Amino acid sequence: MCGIIGYIGFRSASSVITEGLKHLEYRGYDSVGVAVVHQKKLNVRKDKGMVQDVSTKLDFTSMDGHMGIGHTRWATHGGVCKENAHPHTDCKKNVVLAHNGVIENFSALKADLASKGHIFDSETDTEIIAHLIEENMKNSKTSSFKEAFFTSLKSLEGSYALAAFAVDDSEERLFFARKNSPLVIGVGKDELLAASDIPAMLKYTKTFVPLEDGDVAILTKSGYKVYSLDGKEVSRKQMTVDWTAEMAQKGGYPYFMEKEINDQKHFINESLASDVTAAKSLIDQYENIHIIACGTSYHAGLMFSYLLGERGMSAQAYIASEYPYIVKPNKNTLVIAISQSGETADVLQALRYAKGCKKIAITNVVGSTITTIADCVVFINAGPEAGVAATKTFTCQLGIIYKIIYGKEKLESLSSLIEQMLKTEKKVKEIASALAKSENIFFIARGKNVPIAYEASLKLKEITYIHSEAYPGGELKHGPLSLISEGVPIIAIAPDDETLAKLFGNIKEAKSRGAKIISLTNNLDVQKESDFSIKLPELSSIDPMLYPFAMIIPLQLLAYHVSVLKGINPDRPRNLAKSLTVE
Ligand code: AGP
Repeated sequence: MCGIIGYIGFRSASSVITEGLKHLEYRGYDSVGVAVVHQKKLNVRKDKGMVQDVSTKLDFTSMDGHMGIGHTRWATHGGVCKENAHPHTDCKKNVVLAHNGVIENFSALKADLASKGHIFDSETDTEIIAHLIEENMKNSKTSSFKEAFFTSLKSLEGSYALAAFAVDDSEERLFFARKNSPLVIGVGKDELLAASDIPAMLKYTKTFVPLEDGDVAILTKSGYKVYSLDGKEVSRKQMTVDWTAEMAQKGGYPYFMEKEINDQKHFINESLASDVTAAKSLIDQYENIHIIACGTSYHAGLMFSYLLGERGMSAQAYIASEYPYIVKPNKNTLVIAISQSGETADVLQALRYAKGCKKIAITNVVGSTITTIADCVVFINAGPEAGVAATKTFTCQLGIIYKIIYGKEKLESLSSLIEQMLKTEKKVKEIASALAKSENIFFIARGKNVPIAYEASLKLKEITYIHSEAYPGGELKHGPLSLISEGVPIIAIAPDDETLAKLFGNIKEAKSRGAKIISLTNNLDVQKESDFSIKLPELSSIDPMLYPFAMIIPLQLLAYHVSVLKGINPDRPRNLAKSLTVE
């Protein structure tokens, strides 16, 4: 996954692109580059590193020109180095191109182009597209870039969102194309943009046109046109969003993640305002429900399956990438896909696999690919999430799931509950200091607290690089207990509910083998057994069904503070990216 952006208009293209790339960095942040054209002269600057560092070092914003493209990379083909950073060019430095996705037949294309004399500067699959266009321009009678661009797309297998232009084009114009990778046009006054995601363009417009698979868009100073691959003009709907540019800023916090954790008290209300009527009525009609998702969204899905199960319904949560190996859904199966980005390739593949089934999508991103596949879409309304670690989108996913199951009235206290739990931060910081040097940390829980344990463990390992596992308490004795020795931290998610009696036994089991117990609880006996304890609200002041919301907040804060204590940037953990558009 990578982020791409293009700009044509009256402003300095390099400034707009550099600013936009900062918002796309969550999609990949190992290298960055910008290419602009000015009076038919090309200027490409790129290197490995993050947007802020590279753009300062190479002085991106001093590049003249009102048209250009930019890219932030998450390496798939070729290591992390300047040569592999995008944009790429052809032999003549005429065709300029940036790409998000994977070209599956790139080896064959590269061999063919090499045999025709093309010389490559990088190891990427992207560069071959620039050379392919160059080759097709040679072969076209008119040497038309437009014609060669369309012809080249037909030879590409795999996924792509492309931004491209030709320095010697007959007019100033940018070309974009999408297949299984997101791409949205931003329509401003006398200026146009296109990018992988909306926040990169919010400063300039609130009007957007999401492209569909197989679309090619051409942007000029006077407007845009969208075509199908066979060159026929097609019309695509414009939409407006009510997100503000400020929503995509850090708002005084040092990291997006801290802001996003704190923002949960507001966004949960936005989420609960979402209309779930159609989804609820579909769910009521089916006896067999499959929930598919990845990572954090999978944990929300797992919670959904526990809650539907409690109601006597048959619902199973599947990790999206495994789904096709496990079951064969049929027309009597309702498939619910949960994806913050709505672009996760594993989820989209699983949805496509569930041919003939009715599909509900629960997502945060208006215009995302998942919304074009599902029969019914519920938006979680969490606002843009920039930190790689999902936080507010998890609670908002839970908000939607709870609303579907319990209705909104019972959830009205959620915002103040989250606010109350944010106040545990002082205690959380103390625990973070005690845990920062740990090599292994375990989480235990039972029942519907288990998805929270999984999520807390994922959050911790993702941004602190500490090895962490989560187990249902009953599983400890079936293997993991052998890993417990003097001082190994066990975080027990132990609210005073139907799971406590048995979980208390598991806590004692671990403690007697030397574990350091950190508990989240409102039970005095558990507090006494604990080395550290985060207090959950008294039983008298909380509806027990809301415990998951109360528990996840300090656990997100814990991961965040351990990460910061270890000198890691929690917004950009190594090897990860926010939107995973490759399988
Ligand atoms: C969690 O912090 C991660 N960012 C990751 O597990 C994420 O939830 C997963 O990649 C799924 O993304 P999606 O919700 O956009 O489909």
